Order: sequence, then C-alpha cells, then structure tokens
Amino acid sequence: MNYRHSYHAGNFADVAKHLAEVAILGHLAKKDAPFVVIDSHAGRGLYDLGAEEARKTGEAKAGVERVRDLSGSALLERYLKLAAEGGALSYPGSPVIAARMLRPQDRLVAIEKHPEEAALLKQALAPWRKARIEDGDGYARLLAHLPPPERRGLILVDPPFEAPDEFEVAARTVRAAMRKFATGIYLIWYPIKSAAAGNAFAGEVLASGAKKALRIEIEIDAAEGKLARAGLLVLNPPYGFDAEMTAALAIVAPALKARASLDWLAGEA
Ligand SMILES: C[S@@+](CC[C@H](N)C(=O)[O-])C[C@H]1O[C@@H](n2cnc3c(N)ncnc32)[C@H](O)[C@@H]1O
Repeated sequence: MNYRHSYHAGNFADVAKHLAEVAILGHLAKKDAPFVVIDSHAGRGLYDLGAEEARKTGEAKAGVERVRDLSGSALLERYLKLAAEGGALSYPGSPVIAARMLRPQDRLVAIEKHPEEAALLKQALAPWRKARIEDGDGYARLLAHLPPPERRGLILVDPPFEAPDEFEVAARTVRAAMRKFATGIYLIWYPIKSAAAGNAFAGEVLASGAKKALRIEIEIDAAEGKLARAGLLVLNPPYGFDAEMTAALAIVAPALKARASLDWLAGEA
C-alpha cells in the first residue's frame, strides 16, 4: 500500500468526484428520511495543500485552485463552499465532505486500511458523532454493512487501483453490494488508461444489473505517466443529477483545461 492521496488531493479528478458526491448528497437530503454514506476507501479526510506532498506534484494548483472563484451553478457553489470551510489550504476529502453534509438523522461509515491514514481520519472526523471510522479492508467492510437499515444512501468506492487485480475486485464487490442493496446510489471512481480498459470496467460494473447508470469522464493533458483521464460510474443516480453535473462541469472544465463528458450506460432520467 504505497498510495497516498495527499499527493493528489484537490486535483482535476477530485474536483469531478467531489462535485458528484455533493450533488448526490444534496439530493438525498431533500427528503427527511435518514440516509447513510459508506465510503469504502476514505483516505485521511483532510489534506494540507501547503504541505510538501501537494506542492511537489502541483496537482491541487492545477485543480481546485483554478476553480475556487468560479460561480454560475448552484452545485459548484455548494461544493466550493464546503471545500473552503477549513480555509483555502485545508482541502476536504470525501468523508469530510460527507460529514459536513450530514443532518442529525444521517450517518457516515468511513473505512480506511492504511493505519496512518486511518489515524488521521479519526482526528478529522472527531467533531462528528454520526461518523464512524473503521480501519480495515473497504471491500469486506462495505459488504458487511449492507443492506443498511436506512435503506437509502450513497456507497462511494474510490480505491487507489495499485493492485493489478483492483479493477476486478472493485467490480466484483460492487456487484455483490448491488445484490444486497440494489436501490443504493453508487459512485465509483476509476483511472482510465485506455478507452478499452475503461469500457471493460464499466461493463463489469454494469453486470450488477443496475437499471440506471451514468458515466462521467474527465480528461486533461498530462505528462507521460501521470493521471490524465478518470471516470466516475454512478449507479441509480438521482433524478436531475445529470443536468446538475453537466452544468457544473461546463463551468469547471475550461478552467481546468479539461474535457468532460457524460453518457447514460443504462436507462435515462
Ligand atoms: C483515492 S484514496 C481515497 C480518497 C478519498 N475517497 C477522497 O475522495 O478524499 C484511496 C484510499 O484507499 C486506501 N486503501 C487502499 N486499499 C484499501 C482497502 N483495501 N480498503 C480500504 N482502504 C484502502 C488508501 O490508503 C487511500 O487512502
């Protein structure tokens, strides 16, 4: 386990992923009924953009730093407000964004396997009583929590894709999770090294039988060996999610010098 998200926090792919997270949680919060967020690969929760790791790659500078002052979409403005809550140098990862959006009736389960990241995550989530941190394997822990008693929620699957079989394990776990909790909203992040590999992964995830599935891709011009293209698969996206993401990405993509696309892989809103 060499991957450390502190080198990449706030990059172009985080911006797209966290916009999608905020959009989904915004929809879940429209009803009073409680929801759960299960974040299977949570990371440390808060990232210091002034730290050596972030400065070394400059990824946040080319990412969230370029979109901070933008406006023109309610979703984008909500994301930027949540992202700036701890100050411009403290970027929230997915579990802290979720925690900031929880209502008293909602809960968060954040799972992180790396001991140092998990210890930092515990500190980052300490202010939230409804946030539970588990150190362990995100795939196994996720399945153990399904179906959740709330029967509504977001399952976020955001692995580092370091292990050669991680695409296979991630897709298999999502299929198993869908068998236990078919009505959940799933947000799955993945790197795209080639269109064929991206399509193959999407196909493996879609074998879960999701009736509605949306794919979002974002791509930048990056140096050889650096992440240039990333995808998000959203199973059971809430009504209106695609329009909100389209509007927000139309504003952020030019600022990130990125190209973004959305396409329905199953069903249509
Ligand atoms: C891409 S980062 C997560 C970023 C985070 N979701 C966010 O958006 O802020 C992936 C994280 O998964 C952790 N990890 C790796 N293998 C894991 C596993 N099997 N179970 C849980 N966490 C794991 C890594 O230590 C790393 O912190």
